[in-house]
Amino acid sequence: MKNSQNTKLKILVTGGAGFIGSAVVRHIINDTDYAVVNVDKLTYAGNLESLASVSQNPRYAFEQVDICDAAALKRVFNQHQPDIVMHLAAESHVDRSIDGPGEFIQTNIVGTYTLLEQARAYWNQLQGDKKTNFRFHHISTDEVYGDLPHPDETTLGHPEHSEGSPADGQDSSSSPQNDNRVLPLFTEDTAYAPSSPYSASKAASDHLVRAWLRTYGLPTLVTNCSNNYGPYHFPEKLIPLMILNALEGKPLPIYGKGNQIRDWLYVADHARALVLVATQGKVGETYNIGGHNEKQNIEVVTTICSIMDELAPMHERGYSLNTQHSTLITHVKDRPGHDMRYAIDASKIQRELGWTPQETFESGIRKTVQWYLDNQAWCQHVQDGSYQRERLGSKQ
Ligand SMILES: NC(=O)c1ccc[n+]([C@@H]2O[C@H](COP(=O)([O-])OP(=O)(O)OC[C@H]3O[C@@H](n4cnc5c(N)ncnc54)[C@H](O)[C@@H]3O)[C@@H](O)[C@H]2O)c1
Repeated sequence: MKNSQNTKLKILVTGGAGFIGSAVVRHIINDTDYAVVNVDKLTYAGNLESLASVSQNPRYAFEQVDICDAAALKRVFNQHQPDIVMHLAAESHVDRSIDGPGEFIQTNIVGTYTLLEQARAYWNQLQGDKKTNFRFHHISTDEVYGDLPHPDETTLGHPEHSEGSPADGQDSSSSPQNDNRVLPLFTEDTAYAPSSPYSASKAASDHLVRAWLRTYGLPTLVTNCSNNYGPYHFPEKLIPLMILNALEGKPLPIYGKGNQIRDWLYVADHARALVLVATQGKVGETYNIGGHNEKQNIEVVTTICSIMDELAPMHERGYSLNTQHSTLITHVKDRPGHDMRYAIDASKIQRELGWTPQETFESGIRKTVQWYLDNQAWCQHVQDGSYQRERLGSKQ
């Protein structure tokens, strides 16, 4: 895709030093001819080392800017003249949002508002095709929908869902289960019912984005995605935490029974979907993005353990022969307000934009474990700061 002057598109990515943002930036530089401006504050979750492979490319620029800083954003818009904004910057960890919701309100709500206002001021003074073709793509989560009925429940209704809510199965699409019951999925029409300070702040930002289209005409699109996993994931999240703890022979803490279900998407598949939506999606539309991989947390952890047994057997690190990583699993008190099941109906993006994930969970998780085994220097560097894999989210 070219812009009006037939020069290459320039995409302003916020949060490009984070887990998904860095995958988006690497995808843009490696697989397209677009230019990218990475706007990132570099919080504990942002790491420029994740961009080392592309940062010398002339199509890449970096601005260390807080999205809550209107004056700095104004300068960035004027200086770089982007064609598209892809907004990923956020506080993103549910447990941190329970311990300290303030930063989530600030970055996810006030930051999105500030970015919307600066994007609107910039867009207002554009002319011709550059104005018509401008896009503001907001990247959000499936957690805004709350949670869905779990197969372990005896009836289909969920105690936390009010009667008639789309999440109780009335107008969601569905996935068949082994016992022939049909469980609902999140669709683009599912009503919002966020459970945590994180998901509530993301829900608020989604509403702001849609209001800026409806009220001011700013050409926006929204995507809501399921749990991502893959390389460069900060080790506070389930999958990298388990891999690194397993490698060090530390306990593998599982919340409650570990039967919470998440739909897992390999991060590179998400990055491809996002650039597709930003460049070819229809203004005003929402696209749900998912991996068709519903897994219980305990299944995810036991899968990691068996891959680790194969790729990095414990006896090579001084344990007795045949010791398995699964012996490290320990069950800890569940997170307050923990959602039981998320599952995405991604048929719209497949139908309308032709996107499907390339990785299965089995292929993606193997690549991920291998990446962490091969990149322990990255893991050490991102953890040099304050986070030491301690339990978060139990403070109330
Ligand atoms: N990780 C997932 O599984 C997932 C799933 C669906 C949607 N999302 C959404 O995708 C986006 C990216 O998620 P992620 O997992 O890559 O997050 P992340 O925490 O790894 O990265 C967030 C990035 O935003 C930057 N940032 C934070 N506050 C900022 C601010 N005030 N100004 C500028 N930059 C700031 C951080 O430095 C970091 O680089 C988020 O909006 C998140 O809600 C994540």
